[in-house]
Amino acid sequence: MPAQIIDGKQVAADMRAELKTEVAQLREQGIIPGLGVILVGEDPASTSYVTAKEKACAEAGIYSDDNRLPADTSQADLIAKVEEMNANPKIHGILVQLPLPKHIDEDAVIGAIAPEKDVDGFTPGNVGRLVIGQECFMPCTPHGVVQLLARSGMEISGAHVVVVGRSNIVGKPIANMLLQKKPNANATVTICHTGTRDMASFTRQADILIVAAGRPNTITADMVKPGAAVIDVGVNRIPDDTKKSGFRLVGDVDFEGIKEKASLLTPVPGGVGPMTITMLMVNTVESAKRHAQ
Ligand code: GUN
Repeated sequence: MPAQIIDGKQVAADMRAELKTEVAQLREQGIIPGLGVILVGEDPASTSYVTAKEKACAEAGIYSDDNRLPADTSQADLIAKVEEMNANPKIHGILVQLPLPKHIDEDAVIGAIAPEKDVDGFTPGNVGRLVIGQECFMPCTPHGVVQLLARSGMEISGAHVVVVGRSNIVGKPIANMLLQKKPNANATVTICHTGTRDMASFTRQADILIVAAGRPNTITADMVKPGAAVIDVGVNRIPDDTKKSGFRLVGDVDFEGIKEKASLLTPVPGGVGPMTITMLMVNTVESAKRHAQ
């Protein structure tokens, strides 16, 4: 039986509608959730993500303070901007879009974000709390993946989850989230990466396969166990002359081959992507509520 295709756009739309109602109620109490956004340079993919984030905030009633800085912005100036947002009471969440230009030390910039405004969940203190199971901001993409699995009725507890990719943004946090002894977690987790020998021998054991490798066709149908849930976190631009833009988006897995074998599968675009932005808004609203207390 072909896989059920998870409609991330629909799940995201449902969650955003709930959030819009919540923001309207907060506004009646004089609380306006605010997100500070910083984009350095003009990378086309980053520009399109940031634009989508700002648009989604506006639709939900979240204030966004948008800052597009030139590619040659100095590290000191960027950190000064972050510190200004740390001190601004209208801003409850700070988003510095990654990657940053090569002359800037990303760790130094992320480290400058006030932990209580770290709605991306990237600061070392937040990551530490995630690992030891304390209350924290969950990084948006992995948080969105968990929501998609949970809302699809997938039983995570006791499942063998195989994560492909060990990035700080997706692989490491999703692995840590799913191994916690908590609801929507409690899985057995294996992490594969570029140093893994015979990757297929691991991926074929997965009840839930989460792929964040950053390369098209990393996972083909022969690497998937029949009936597995496959979550494709990849977003890759590949040339396509039939498109006005000259490219199209594909994920990290062979969608056509795997849809005949998996039980659940996310498309690209329209799977995990819309959830990332939604979880950023969820975290920003949560931060505004914490600041109001
Ligand atoms: N670049 C790719 N994904 C993300 C994300 O979730 N947050 C930020 N800040 N940058 C990113």
